[in-house]
Amino acid sequence: MLKKNIEDALNKQIRVEAESSQIYLAMACWAEVKGLEGVAQFMYDQSDEEREHMLKLVKFINERGGHAKISALKEPNVTFESFKGMFEKLFEHEVFVSESINNLVHITLEEKDYATHNFLQWYVAEQIEEEMARTILDKINLIGDDKGGLYLFDRDIQQLTVTSSASTPLE
Ligand code: FEO
Repeated sequence: MLKKNIEDALNKQIRVEAESSQIYLAMACWAEVKGLEGVAQFMYDQSDEEREHMLKLVKFINERGGHAKISALKEPNVTFESFKGMFEKLFEHEVFVSESINNLVHITLEEKDYATHNFLQWYVAEQIEEEMARTILDKINLIGDDKGGLYLFDRDIQQLTVTSSASTPLE
């Protein structure tokens, strides 16, 4: 049985993951209307992954005698000043998510809830996403304003998704 404060903290994380999914969906739409098909697909995939992250938490809470709360979400940004600006936002958001997961892990240790602590290790490993976002930003900085570079980046970003999922034990 989950302690109330653990249940509340997990429920907060449900909202973080759901909002992440919305944020990346909005990014996918922005990239798609700008004609960046590769980037759009990458963002759609990220959005789906975040929904999976959310669902795993929902199931865990309900199966451990708690009640997963599905709440209203903050409206995400739907436009970005630039392609680079959008990836900067993605990186900042993943840093925020990592902090949120780390806080959650900390609470489970304080409460000696080792089952939840163990469950959260999957999320800790998943936060390699933060590193992936950093790598993408480095590449974008190399491209700068070069249109040809952006074309190639849009074509190759799918490869980055594949590499990142292949190197992490997903689901
Ligand atoms: Fe669910 Fe991107 O963290």
